[in-house]
Amino acid sequence: MKNHKIVLLPGDGIGPEITKVTRELLEMISKKYCFDITFEEHPIGGSAIELTDSPLPQSTIKACKESDAVLMAAIGDPKYDRLPRDKRPETGLLNLRSSLGLFANIRPVKVWPSLIEASSLKPEFVKGVDLIVVRELTGGIYFGKPKGRIRTDEGERAFNTMTYSDIEIDRIIEIAFEIAKSRSKKVCSVDKANVLDVSQLWRERVELLAKKNQELEVSHLYIDNAAMQLIRSPKKFDVILTANLFGDILSDEAAMLTGSIGMLPSASLSNNGPGLYEPVHGSAPDIAGLDKANPIAMVLSSAMMLRIALKEIKAADAIEEAVNKVLNNGLRTPDLMSKACTELGCRDMGKALIDAI
Ligand code: IPM
Ligand code: MG
Repeated sequence: MKNHKIVLLPGDGIGPEITKVTRELLEMISKKYCFDITFEEHPIGGSAIELTDSPLPQSTIKACKESDAVLMAAIGDPKYDRLPRDKRPETGLLNLRSSLGLFANIRPVKVWPSLIEASSLKPEFVKGVDLIVVRELTGGIYFGKPKGRIRTDEGERAFNTMTYSDIEIDRIIEIAFEIAKSRSKKVCSVDKANVLDVSQLWRERVELLAKKNQELEVSHLYIDNAAMQLIRSPKKFDVILTANLFGDILSDEAAMLTGSIGMLPSASLSNNGPGLYEPVHGSAPDIAGLDKANPIAMVLSSAMMLRIALKEIKAADAIEEAVNKVLNNGLRTPDLMSKACTELGCRDMGKALIDAI
């Protein structure tokens, strides 16, 4: 029997609740589909700061590097907002992405038929939306140097640098192009080439590689226009290829097409070594511990992990079908509630998913 080594990172806020539900589901599904999973839980973010004074202890990095895949819940809490940057929970996550070389962030945005009413957009606009945001994850303004804060004669000044090398751009383009080849062959690259030099290089590289991939229909949009088109006619998009900061923003916006950010999974991949699977949403400290969290984004992230990292395709399909069934049966966590549906807490949503498998 195959044995997969998974590192779980429950993190902060609602993280531990949704991790518990996801772990139970994975334990159940591994029995059903005849494989073993060994879980190791490690601290990251605020919970790691409490334990070790670091948002990403060395022991967590080591365990992640030795795993077959890493499944994270969420990090962050306003309580840590005043800590110096290197001590903040977000820095832990960014350092993890960078330590594992996870340059490719894949964020599928699919509207579930039974949730069409939950979107704040009109049903005819969101019905059938099925797109993927391919976000560069280890470069751009998130990591660019120089950065920092300095005192000047005129007062304090702070700065970050948006920078990409051609190599960094090319490798994320290749990922987006590969994904597009398995879908509708359409890629829209999003940049700000009318203003930023870094975007001009980005666009040139996309144009160059597009010439070598004639079977693809490659288009370009400026980020401001893309943000508008995404809610004006979301169905026009298939694969969206973009830089770190733009992808961060567009993926939250795209989440709203699906009704709730509590539905969106993601995978962050390197060229070799384990990937990181995590919901797009944050740690929602306002509802932490209240059994109100929606575990579905993490559950769907675990399905991406089963499919991409562990090649347990049947188990991944079974999880996605269970989500569909539960939603079709009108079961909803509070973030998704609408008329004539039954409201469930995080734990009961987990039980309903297990029953549906
Ligand atoms: C995300 C999050 C992170 C990001 C934060 C928590 C550092 O917003 O994964 O989209 O900005 O990348
Ligand atoms: Mg984000």
